[in-house]
Amino acid sequence: MSGTGSGVMGGDYGRHAAAQHEGAQTAAAVLDRALAAVPVPGDGRAFRAADLGCASGANALEPMRRLVAAVRGRNASVPVWVTHTDIPGNDFNALVATLTGPAAYTGTPGVFACAEARSFYEPLFPPGELHLAWSTIAVHWLSRVPQPIDGHVYCSRATGAAREALRRRSAADWSGFLTHRAAELVPGGQLVVVGGAATDDGLSGAEGIFDLALEELEALVAAGVLTAAQLAAMTVPTWNRTAAEYLDPLTAGPFAAVFRLEDQRFAVLADPAYARFEADGDAEVYAREVTASFLAAFGPSLFAGPAAVGPGVAERFAAGLAARVRERPGAARTEWRVQVLRATRRDEG
Ligand SMILES: C[S@@+](CC[C@H](N)C(=O)[O-])C[C@H]1O[C@@H](n2cnc3c(N)ncnc32)[C@H](O)[C@@H]1O
Repeated sequence: MSGTGSGVMGGDYGRHAAAQHEGAQTAAAVLDRALAAVPVPGDGRAFRAADLGCASGANALEPMRRLVAAVRGRNASVPVWVTHTDIPGNDFNALVATLTGPAAYTGTPGVFACAEARSFYEPLFPPGELHLAWSTIAVHWLSRVPQPIDGHVYCSRATGAAREALRRRSAADWSGFLTHRAAELVPGGQLVVVGGAATDDGLSGAEGIFDLALEELEALVAAGVLTAAQLAAMTVPTWNRTAAEYLDPLTAGPFAAVFRLEDQRFAVLADPAYARFEADGDAEVYAREVTASFLAAFGPSLFAGPAAVGPGVAERFAAGLAARVRERPGAARTEWRVQVLRATRRDEG
């Protein structure tokens, strides 16, 4: 897939997003600081917030509940309007189910939620409309794959020209993201991002599970289930930026004039599934959980993208990957690296 966002999640992403939940959790204190600093309208206009790259919305419920409480704590009568955005291929029915379900934050009078199906690498709101933009575990998904990765499906393993092309695409996408948010945020508006990241050695913490996935894809080629050409066309369209790739444009580049970087932290997220495995030793349950999470996040990129695989291939892959994880649970352990950042939209610029 290419064009405006190719990182769509599987339909059951919301049930298999425990690792991503850690991402939102790690930024809770940063969100609180953003909510203390952000201007809250006192003239009857709504406080406007955005959840960018929402998927099913499940992991946004806690932060948006926090947001409503904090904003209402500062002005009890201000309407609060949250827009959850994602690419058009997202399962927006799952988002609606989340927003109308029992755990939703929308039950309070004067609190509104809606959805927008458009890439965050495009304009999403009229100028000067947003008070707070929130995005977790989404901005490392690229707008498109610049070129396939030779011999692998995952960005960490890219070398040579493919690696450079990914890095350039990532820089251009991040610049586009910041350009649009700069236009949309009110002066004093807050941008809070938790993005997939890499240490300076280029590693994201997910290499083990991706190497197991590649082993299984190669086994499917050997078994004649997939062709070598199909495997060569499979690429997960992500780039986990280093801290410098996230922060340099905000501190020394052109965006330093429009944003003030307030908080930044590089974090390594826990692997909740592996912690459970260590506690109970149940490799079968661990393998099922890891496989379901992997397929929910990356299955559509691998199996519904340009590789155009036939029916049943994703299921064969799932069974094979689960067997590999069961045999080598330690190899699947995933401790995602993330960059947390908060920036204020300056008055000038
Ligand atoms: C791993 S999920 C994270 C979802 C949620 N924010 C969370 O923390 O659980 C990444 C989401 O980013 C979305 N995404 C990828 N590229 C995007 C783009 N260009 N614009 C908007 N959303 C995008 C995907 O469709 C997916 O729903």
